[in-house]
Amino acid sequence: MSGKSGNGSGSTRALKVRVKTARRRTTSSTRWLQRQLNDPYVRRAKAEGYRSRAAYKLIEMDDKHHLLRAGMRVVDLGAAPGGWSQVCVERTGSDDAHPRIVAIDYLEMDQLPGVIVLQKNFLDDDAPAVLIEALGHRKADLVLSDMAAPTTGHKKTDHLRIMHLCEVAAEFARDILAPGGAFLAKVFRGGTENELLANLKRDFAQVMHVKPAASRSDSVELYVLAKGFRGRTEAADDDGEAAAGGEEEAGGYRP
Ligand SMILES: C[S@@+](CC[C@H](N)C(=O)[O-])C[C@H]1O[C@@H](n2cnc3c(N)ncnc32)[C@H](O)[C@@H]1O
Repeated sequence: MSGKSGNGSGSTRALKVRVKTARRRTTSSTRWLQRQLNDPYVRRAKAEGYRSRAAYKLIEMDDKHHLLRAGMRVVDLGAAPGGWSQVCVERTGSDDAHPRIVAIDYLEMDQLPGVIVLQKNFLDDDAPAVLIEALGHRKADLVLSDMAAPTTGHKKTDHLRIMHLCEVAAEFARDILAPGGAFLAKVFRGGTENELLANLKRDFAQVMHVKPAASRSDSVELYVLAKGFRGRTEAADDDGEAAAGGEEEAGGYRP
């Protein structure tokens, strides 16, 4: 149904795997491999048939914040290899007869029942039009963005790049969401830009930061969640003051 293909056992090995250094492997790739092999979420994803460990981040955030419901229309930005899309299919009941999940990535992604998969750069000028067409010109209930550009190792550059992706995604969400809709996007720790937060707070009833357990604690990644879209208004096109905050007030986050 969700395109999953686990081994069905559901059990995961807990033995720690040690990776020997190989002549052609750098120390950092040995460390990465060791971490992958010992990561319980990687093992669980393999056993349960999810395409990525990232699936558990969405599962955890949805379990806590109730984002996905049957019959919803969802846009999944930066979707490859497709773990989040699988979760969306499972929790919305989207199927090939009436696909309501639209996924986009510039990388190739295997097809998934119930998902319209687009291989395209979201930053292309025509990407919003292509996504709207794929949605059948209907509004979405949820816009997800797990987009991340490959990191350069230069903290400031990486932060700016992910913030740019998040800002463009938020702008798209304002255009495409139905009133009451929600927006969830990956950002990097380091203080989400005030302007982005102020705009989100003006347009959504609740804005908060979320760090699911599946997001590695040593990673700078976290998510900004905006719920209760007020609908696109004329005022949303001007600069304005924040209107309301959520229980985990996002503007207060300073790592
Ligand atoms: C962390 S991965 C997403 C994992 C996915 N949520 C899952 O569960 O399998 C981030 C993805 O964002 C994509 N991405 C980054 N920038 C993008 C852009 N401008 N347009 C489309 N996809 C983009 C990358 O290609 C990558 O596949």
